[in-house]
Amino acid sequence: MQEIFEKIEEIALEIDNLIKTAEGGYSDHSNSTGDVQLKLDILSDEIIEQKLSSVKTIGSLISEEKENILEVSSSGKYTVCYDPLDGSSIVDYNLSVGSIFGIYENGLNAENIVASVYIVYGPRVEMVKTLKGSKPEHYRLVGTKFLNLGTITMQESGKINAPGGTQKNWYPYHKLLIDSLFQDGYRLRYSGGMVPDLHQVLLKGGGLFSYPGTTDKPKGKLRDLFEVIPFALTFIEAGGEAIDEHGLSLLGIKPEHPHDTTPCFFGSKYEIAKVKEAYANA
Ligand code: AHG
Ligand code: MN
Ligand code: MN
Repeated sequence: MQEIFEKIEEIALEIDNLIKTAEGGYSDHSNSTGDVQLKLDILSDEIIEQKLSSVKTIGSLISEEKENILEVSSSGKYTVCYDPLDGSSIVDYNLSVGSIFGIYENGLNAENIVASVYIVYGPRVEMVKTLKGSKPEHYRLVGTKFLNLGTITMQESGKINAPGGTQKNWYPYHKLLIDSLFQDGYRLRYSGGMVPDLHQVLLKGGGLFSYPGTTDKPKGKLRDLFEVIPFALTFIEAGGEAIDEHGLSLLGIKPEHPHDTTPCFFGSKYEIAKVKEAYANA
């Protein structure tokens, strides 16, 4: 596992450099979800594949940017699922973006995730590493080294509300939930990049990030293996919660296909209780 973490640190440095120096704009290709890929999506994916395919403990790699599973070593026990560059729609406008990694052992169910790592490329480059059973560790890049800033613990409640999805297509009970939080004094914080948006909720110790099912996308937008499950592990180990639209832990989901998506809610305990109430009779 240590070797995987070291490679991810090298990857973070290379992708950060790429974001700062490579050409922007779209390529001529689409990924399996149907998104037109940015040149940066493809280059970031190549960096990760090249770095991780030499790690002996990794059996296979699954990228948001590739349809198929890549087998790398027959003796490797881990499958690493990754979103090379999260925030394709905002990177060319110089908003913060990220990379997300979920490390699974013994099959691709949420309960089999053993660690997750995400990197935020913002005014600073930061990394959060979570091993199952331990508090998430927060790091900041200083020069070429990641400095450990300590562990992350969430409070019982927070003050920010980050509501994803197109409002026109929200179900009425979801709109009531979001409106009621604003009525209670919550403040809108939504950049359109789940990595910085969730990072803010985590570091501020509470609040809610939601990406619900909508009338046009009943299963939501965020992908289980590379986005939803890795962040669920981080939030739950930090003392927060992460649930689906049935109020069940996201660490119980069983994706049928590598690119499946699930409506998701991440937050501190108070706001997640509000989600459960709002969705109870949905
Ligand atoms: P990606 O760039 O990897 O396709 O994912 C972007 C995701 C996520 O970061 C964000 O929360 C969400 O898409 C934003 O979606 P909306 O534009 O629908 O708010
Ligand atoms: Mn993404
Ligand atoms: Mn992506």
